[in-house]
Amino acid sequence: MPSTRTPARFYSPLAIGAPEPLRQLPVRLERMIHFVPPHNAKIRARLAETIASVDVLLGNLEDAIPAEDKEAARRGFIEMAQQHDFGTTGLWVRINALNSPWALDDIIEIVSAVGSKLDVMMLPKVEGPWDIHYLDQLLAQLEAKHQIDRPILIHAILETAEGVSNVEEIAAASPRMHGMSLGPADLAASRGMKTTRVGGGHPDYGVLADAGSGGPRGFFQQDLWHYTVARMVDACVRNGIKPFYGPFGDFSDDAACESQFRNAFIMGCVGAWSLHPKQIAIAKRVFSPDPNEVAFAKRILEAMPDGTGAVMIDGKMQDDATWKQAKVIVDLARLVAAKDPGLASAYGI
Ligand code: GLV
Ligand code: MG
Repeated sequence: MPSTRTPARFYSPLAIGAPEPLRQLPVRLERMIHFVPPHNAKIRARLAETIASVDVLLGNLEDAIPAEDKEAARRGFIEMAQQHDFGTTGLWVRINALNSPWALDDIIEIVSAVGSKLDVMMLPKVEGPWDIHYLDQLLAQLEAKHQIDRPILIHAILETAEGVSNVEEIAAASPRMHGMSLGPADLAASRGMKTTRVGGGHPDYGVLADAGSGGPRGFFQQDLWHYTVARMVDACVRNGIKPFYGPFGDFSDDAACESQFRNAFIMGCVGAWSLHPKQIAIAKRVFSPDPNEVAFAKRILEAMPDGTGAVMIDGKMQDDATWKQAKVIVDLARLVAAKDPGLASAYGI
């Protein structure tokens, strides 16, 4: 049985009066998705400042919000969306899982009250395309009912064994898909992985050097998330949507957080979650390209104006493929430069 509609129908609105689905994602800088608990008055009081310092602000309604605060968090999110102007900062919400007692009211109340300000709805514990189809249909009905004129996008969290098995179908499920984040905590639990950490490595997961070499045997820690991130990046990029690393839970180890974010960035992810304000700066540092890389990439583009042929720069061979790699870096630098005047001058853009 086909899991998506035919090409002829793929971009038709799912409800009469709903906006046309997008054919391409809007170009936006999303280096960090900054999580806030919307019922927390202290955090709400500093929100204007937070909005100015992040690329995406997300009101979290799901895990980490106690059951007795779920409704206050939902109300708090609606108020914060109403009270602030977000400018170029994205406004996202993470709703509760579809099988929870709160998801339906999260969706209906938020879209009814602030649907025209909401950029993206993050859906946790996505198992397969059926979850996306359900939310897609419901959002179309609500957009039509409330005359919302631009589609609210869906971002899936990849955090169950079944979700990982269906990652391709999830990425291709709807033109409403924005992207995907790795959820290492739920995924570890779902798979029965033997780690209690939220992201990052595990000291016992590694490769032991061969015996018999004489001296002490080296042990090299490996990346637990490599396989899943790679599958997610391929599924997303193939469908023109964006892959993200998710949370890093050890706030006492900034170096490990930076290393996890950087692995994801190098593998193709465009951003990560910030759960603590200090992770905002880490994400900015990691997901903005290095000025030296940008300078080198600009030299490649300048040396090959039409993107074909082969040249040598500093003893390194460049051709059509490295020209494309250079363009990825320079395009990202332009996007960062438009938001960050300090980096604009470091990039010479
Ligand atoms: C995020 O939601 C995770 O489970 O890691
Ligand atoms: Mg989770």
